[in-house]
Amino acid sequence: MRVLTLDDFDLRGKTVFLRVDMNCPIDPDTMEIMGTRRIEEVVETLKALPESKVVVASHQGRVGNKDYTGMDKHAEVLQKMMNQEIKYVEDVIGKSAQDAIRGLGDGEILLLDNLRLCAEENYEFTPENAADTIMVKRLYKLFDLCVLDSFPSAHRSHPSIIGFPQMLPACAGRVAEREVRNLDEIMTVAKAPHVIVLGGSKIPDRIEAIKMLIQNKRADHILLTGLIGNVFMRAQARIKSPLGIKREDEVVAKAHALIGEYPDIFATPVDVAIDKDGERVEMDVREMGKGDCILDLGPKTIEYYSKLISGAGTVFISGPAGKFESKNFEYGTRELLKAVANSMATTIVSGGHLTTALKQEGLAGRINHVSTAGGALVLYLTGKKLPMISALEEAARRI
Ligand code: 3PG
Repeated sequence: MRVLTLDDFDLRGKTVFLRVDMNCPIDPDTMEIMGTRRIEEVVETLKALPESKVVVASHQGRVGNKDYTGMDKHAEVLQKMMNQEIKYVEDVIGKSAQDAIRGLGDGEILLLDNLRLCAEENYEFTPENAADTIMVKRLYKLFDLCVLDSFPSAHRSHPSIIGFPQMLPACAGRVAEREVRNLDEIMTVAKAPHVIVLGGSKIPDRIEAIKMLIQNKRADHILLTGLIGNVFMRAQARIKSPLGIKREDEVVAKAHALIGEYPDIFATPVDVAIDKDGERVEMDVREMGKGDCILDLGPKTIEYYSKLISGAGTVFISGPAGKFESKNFEYGTRELLKAVANSMATTIVSGGHLTTALKQEGLAGRINHVSTAGGALVLYLTGKKLPMISALEEAARRI
C-alpha cells in the first residue's frame, strides 16, 4: 500500500482531525437515522486512537435535500456504540468549534456539526485551492495529524478531504485502509465477464460512472435496477410518463446516447412490481399505466438478471433494486443478493441497504468484499484515482 496508516504514527497525546463518512439514510418523516452501519464503522478507527484528542468530522446529506441534517443524532448513536461520552458542538469552523477542540483532553472525542454547513465543503477544489479555504486555514493549526477514513466520499474533492492533508501529516484510518487493501487485491484477480448490477438514485453521477466503466472495459453487462433503471427505460420509451426527477431531460438524453453507442451492454427490467392499495402487484413493463410507480423488480427480471450473474467472472452490485425499506418491495434486492452470493464469481457488494440485507440474510461471509461506499466505489472500479487516495499518497510521499 502506498499510503501511511495509524500504525506509522505515535498517536499518544496528539490532536487528530478524523474525517469519516457518517452520511446515513434519514427517515424523511421522523428525521431519525434509519441505518447506522456507517457510524458502526467509525468505532474501529476511534478504538485505535485511545490516547489521542480526536475531532470527528462528517457530512450528512446534501444542502436542499431532506437528508441534510445536523449531527446531534449521530453523536448519540456513536456515544452508545463507543460506550464513552462523545462531545458535540453545533459548529464547524467558528469560535465554539475552535474552543471545543482546544479544550479536549487525551482520550476525549468531539464531533463537529455537519461539515456542509460550511459553504466551502459543497464545492470541488484542486488540492492547492482546497488548502487555501477558510475551513482549512482556520482549523489546521489546531491539529497534529489528519486521518482520512471517509472512503464513501473518497471521490469528492472537498476541503475536509483534500485540503487538510496538504497542511498536516496524513494517513488512512482503519476503514479506508481495509477498503483500499481489499479492493486493490480483488482488482488484480478480477476476471471477465464483468457484470455490474446498478441501482440507486444519484443519477448524474451514475451516468458518468457507467460511461467510464464501459470505456475502461470494466463492464460487459450492466443490469439496471431502481431509479437508474427507470431512466434507461424512459430512454427506451418503455416508460411513457415523466419520472419527475431533477435534470430529467438531460439524464434521459444521456442514457439514450449510451444505449445507442453500446446496444449490447444494458439490461433493463422486463417486469416490475407496483403498489395497488397497499398490495404488491407484479406486471409486465408494457402493461404499466400512467402514474404507476415502479417499486421493485418482477420475477422474470430477477430470473433473467440471476442468469447473467451466474455466468460472471466478476460481479459488482450497488444500490437496492427497489423500495427496499418496505416489506412488500424488498424481494428483488434480496433475490439478486442471493444470486450474487451463489455465483462462482469474485463479488463486491456496495452501499448501506445492500450491506444491511446481506447481514439479515446471513450472506456476508460469501461475498469477497462488502463496502459501505456507493458512488466512490463505482468510480474506483472505473480505474479512476480517487481524490482522497491521491491526497493520502501525496502525503506519504512528502513524509
Ligand atoms: C455517499 O453516500 O455516496 C457519500 O457520503 C457521498 O455523498 P455525496 O454524494 O452527497 O457527496
